[in-house]
Amino acid sequence: METRIFRINSVREDAGQIAAAAKILRCGGVVAIPTETVYGLGANGLDAEAVKKIFEAKGRPSDNPLILHVADEKWLTRFCEDIPEEAFELAERFWPGPLTIVLKRRAVVPDIVTAGLKTVGVRCPKHEITNAVIRTADVPIAAPSANLSGKPSTTSFVHVFRDMNGRIDAIIDGGECEVGLESTIVDLTVNPPRLLRPGGVTVEELRGVLGEIQIDEAVQRLMSEGETAKAPGMKYRHYAPKAPIVVVSGDPELSAKYIKRRISEKTGVLCFDEFAGMFGGAVAIPFGSFEDLKIQAERLFDSLRCFDDTDVTEIYAQCPPEEGLGLAIANRLKKAAGFNVVDLGSE
Ligand code: TXA
Ligand code: MG
Repeated sequence: METRIFRINSVREDAGQIAAAAKILRCGGVVAIPTETVYGLGANGLDAEAVKKIFEAKGRPSDNPLILHVADEKWLTRFCEDIPEEAFELAERFWPGPLTIVLKRRAVVPDIVTAGLKTVGVRCPKHEITNAVIRTADVPIAAPSANLSGKPSTTSFVHVFRDMNGRIDAIIDGGECEVGLESTIVDLTVNPPRLLRPGGVTVEELRGVLGEIQIDEAVQRLMSEGETAKAPGMKYRHYAPKAPIVVVSGDPELSAKYIKRRISEKTGVLCFDEFAGMFGGAVAIPFGSFEDLKIQAERLFDSLRCFDDTDVTEIYAQCPPEEGLGLAIANRLKKAAGFNVVDLGSE
């Protein structure tokens, strides 16, 4: 299949390309879309045949539901019912933005989108171009992250192109993703609300609106065979480079020393900028200052992908404290490591 590339810089100047992408979606095609979190692999979320093509392109297990991307909070009532007031409060505060809200679905949402669940995750992405495409198509876009299943999510056009060229109808190049990690997912169909996946909107921020929140166990540990994660996607090993990863958490001085004692020339080290000079002989990839969680989030997936261009056979990763955005970064690192974690604590 030939994949069309749309290079869209501005909604106003490139209206023709936006209309063309919207048309492909309305006609049942699959289009990779930029968002502020990661790129999505989109299809008309009301068209079961179209959505099926997403699973095929990605090689994704069909028991893993997709998020519906909408143009604004007014679309909520089109696809969800029994919507609690808190959903509108969250939307008001955090949309457009990196927050997915799980609500009871309406019958118009096909089973394949929700993997048969009675609920659906809905999100309004903060990306002008994608927002314009959704509005023009006037259908919600069902989209998982635009990576081959098991690979890190894609945060730039080049990575989407590498994974998806020839497998889908079109890719919209909308530049680099601002957040770099997938959206926070909160389930409002249970009481108290439950955090299913940490992301760009932090638990602390959610508590500001919702009060008490429970954090799903799959955020912190590996779910064993037979256990069901509340967000089905959380049970899979994800975002993984080819070489196995050991996450070393705790005081960064301690983790740096711990890693230094174990390196050889076949070792990859994902480290904070401050420690990059310590791992001579190994393949060290700095992913931001210890102080700068925002940069770490932005660079995490790209950095993990870089190891695949080297011949390292093992990777050690430093890990930030699990506060604010640090919870999401630590979660993605631990998932990439299959929860293989050494916790050194602090001195
Ligand atoms: O930032 C994002 O959320 C990106 C961009 C493209 O929007 N999308 C994304 O989609 O990360 P995906 O499919 O890679 O991850 C969606 C996660 C999966 O873990 C899935 O199990 C969970 O959301 N999920 C979707 N619908 C759900 C539902 N109704 N109940 C519980 N979990 C759900
Ligand atoms: Mg994904």
